[in-house]
This record gives sequence, C-alpha cells and structure tokens, in this order.
Amino acid sequence: MDDLDRIYEIEKLAYPFPWTRGIIEDCLRVGYACFGLQIGKNLVGYTIFNWAAAEAHLLNLCIHPDWQQRGFGSLLLEYAINQMARLENKTIFLEVRVSNPEAAALYKKRGFRVVGHRLSYYQAGDEREDAIVMRLDL
Ligand SMILES: CC(C)(COP(=O)(O)OP(=O)(O)OC[C@H]1O[C@@H](n2cnc3c(N)ncnc32)[C@H](O)[C@@H]1OP(=O)(O)O)[C@@H](O)C(=O)NCCC(=O)NCCS
Repeated sequence: MDDLDRIYEIEKLAYPFPWTRGIIEDCLRVGYACFGLQIGKNLVGYTIFNWAAAEAHLLNLCIHPDWQQRGFGSLLLEYAINQMARLENKTIFLEVRVSNPEAAALYKKRGFRVVGHRLSYYQAGDEREDAIVMRLDL
C-alpha cells in the first residue's frame, strides 16, 4: 500500500464525509504541502496545506481513529505551522464544520481564533453544513 492509499484509508475511517481519493491525489499532484505522521512504519496521520502571497490555508488534518486523543494531532499541526512559517507565510486560515467542536478546540488551543462563518459551506449527506472560519497570525 502506498502513502496515497493509506491516506485515503484513514480519511474514510476518520470522517463522516471523507474526501474522494481523487481530491487527495489532486492536492498532491498540484504541489500542496502534505505532511505525514509516521509511527514506526505506520502512517497514522496527515495534514495538507496550500499557500500563496504569505497566506496559508489548512485544508485537512486527520489522525487515524485508533491514534486520536494522544497528542498526535497537536504534534502534526505544530510541525506544519512551523513549516508554513518557514515558507514566509504570515497567516493561516482554516474552515471547520460546526459539528466538529473537537477539532475547533484543538485549533483554539493552538491560538487560532474564530473570524467568521461560511453558511452552507460543506456537503453533509443530502444537506449542507456551515463552516467556522479560523485564523492564526504567525
Ligand atoms: C481533530 C483531530 C485531528 C485531533 O487529533 P488528536 O490527535 O485526536 O488531538 P490531540 O490528542 O492532539 O488533542 C488536542 C486537543 O484537541 C481537542 N480534542 C481532540 N479530540 C477531542 C475530543 N474527542 N473531544 C474533545 N476535545 C478534543 C482538545 O482540546 C485536545 O486538547 P486536550 O487533550 O488538552 O483536551 C482528530 O480527532 C481527527 O483526525 N478527527 C477526524 C478528522 C477531523 O475532524 N479533522 C479536522 C478537520 S478541520
């Protein structure tokens, strides 16, 4: 199994509405930053960012359900923030589903603050769901 297969496997396990394999593949193909967290030979988490004009965007942060709530999400986020700072970004934005307070808590704990909402931003089965927009100044 290559990294893309493993990322897609984790994605499907961790999210109620996962990205398609094609979306993940496109992110990698166009050169977005993808950082993986490996324990031994086992990829257990990943995060994907894009960036332009000193502004980075966290597109995905995901830890395999078997490895959640052990500090790995925070560890991976911290690593990625440092990489985005090294690339001379000044700000990181992200969206998080209103139904995902666990992830919002992780971001708040790291210093992200809520700067807005995007109405009906996400697909949620047959319905739509709002996004909370968060920002971190580097
Ligand atoms: C969100 C996610 C990345 C967090 O990763 P994690 O490794 O479990 O998080 P950590 O162990 O580093 O926890 C850091 C903080 O996040 C918050 N948090 C994480 N999981 C939580 C939970 N189940 N309930 C409440 N708070 C939680 C807490 O504030 C926690 O700090 P604390 O341990 O001091 O209370 C992980 O749950 C995940 O992959 N979820 C599915 C995918 C997802 O929703 N990604 C976010 C998309 S925007």
